[in-house]
Amino acid sequence: MKLRCLGCATDFPHGLYPLGCPKCGDAVEVVYDDLGPLEVDGGVGIWRFSGMLPVPEERWRVSLGEGNTPLVRLAEVSRAAGLPHLYFKNETANPTWSFKDRFHAAGLSAARMLGYSKVVTSTTGNHGASAAAYAAAAGMKCVVFCHPEIPAVQRRMIALYGALPVILEPRQAMLKTLVEDFGYWPATTLAPLPMANAYGVEGYKTIAYEIWRQLGRVPDHMVCPIAAGDALYGPWKGFCELRRMGLTDRVPAMHGAQAEGCNPFVESFRARSQRVAVEQQPRSIALSIRDETGGRPALQAIYDSGGSALDATEEEIVAALRLLASAGLLVEPASATALACARKAGFREEETVVCLLTGCGAKWPETLAKIWDEPVLENPTLEELKRLL
Ligand SMILES: Cc1ncc(COP(=O)(O)O)c(C=O)c1O
Ligand SMILES: [Zn+2]
Repeated sequence: MKLRCLGCATDFPHGLYPLGCPKCGDAVEVVYDDLGPLEVDGGVGIWRFSGMLPVPEERWRVSLGEGNTPLVRLAEVSRAAGLPHLYFKNETANPTWSFKDRFHAAGLSAARMLGYSKVVTSTTGNHGASAAAYAAAAGMKCVVFCHPEIPAVQRRMIALYGALPVILEPRQAMLKTLVEDFGYWPATTLAPLPMANAYGVEGYKTIAYEIWRQLGRVPDHMVCPIAAGDALYGPWKGFCELRRMGLTDRVPAMHGAQAEGCNPFVESFRARSQRVAVEQQPRSIALSIRDETGGRPALQAIYDSGGSALDATEEEIVAALRLLASAGLLVEPASATALACARKAGFREEETVVCLLTGCGAKWPETLAKIWDEPVLENPTLEELKRLL
């Protein structure tokens, strides 16, 4: 097991490379000479897949029981989308109600293995809440630099987990200082690196392993809501490893889902560019995927898998959120974007499609209030109630 530069393919020993490859500055990722076994008996959370993850010794591993999330079908949603074989990987069933828990279980375990006791990150909500919870579980100090629009409830979550939430705009300079001068582990991208912490991204691979296990094969298409793009690159790496181990001979086409008002991957994909575009004025209700730009590894994965980058309007995102809620799953707008894009992707009826539902709607009360303004029925008379019944 070692790290390899995605740009110049130089190998490096385990360690933190906060500014990427010391030779060329590109991102590094974890590579393995030997993979497997895929699953071990008794492994907790993502560590069921410990043979595929970068922390060989159990004593460093952190878990809050993340992963093992349901893969569900929703008959009404399938019908509305015209996709009989549509599945949802419900990542809201994680300890802090988002897929980020897989990232921090892997990332903070690696941080402990490498001797770090403090972690810093940057967030619009989910990433920081998850970092704070896993820092608590790992006995690490944690500082979270928050986007000004972070929901109040998520700021409180961060504080209750024992971390320090700090609203800060822009966030990169202070983040870099804590990493370079104060010995903090960065659980996020240090710009201009095109990928978040390499060890954390390994955690996302477990999404692919679970889907393969739950379906008994890989799907034809997977649709992931993306900002930096690790939400797509991580599962893609997982599917590629399953192929390398001979467990599948195919891999899914990977599709990135974005909002029309912030779609740098879509711009690049349409132009068949190798670089991710920069959105000057990102706009969308889906704050979790409202990043100005993203990472090349995800764009490359889209090309290599025969996938695409898709986008949806604000109306389509809200409609998808309401459709999922009416079927029993309340997700946040970023996650609903996966369904909104899947509905217009032109997938064929017989194809199997998995949408990654990355985060929970209940963590975004201010956002829900914007799209859900039905009057509350309070102390009605029986006559008033009967009218509604
Ligand atoms: C709910 C949700 N979906 C999707 C994403 C996008 O993830 P990535 O930046 O890894 O592409 C995020 C990131 O914050 C998120 O919180
Ligand atoms: Zn390099």
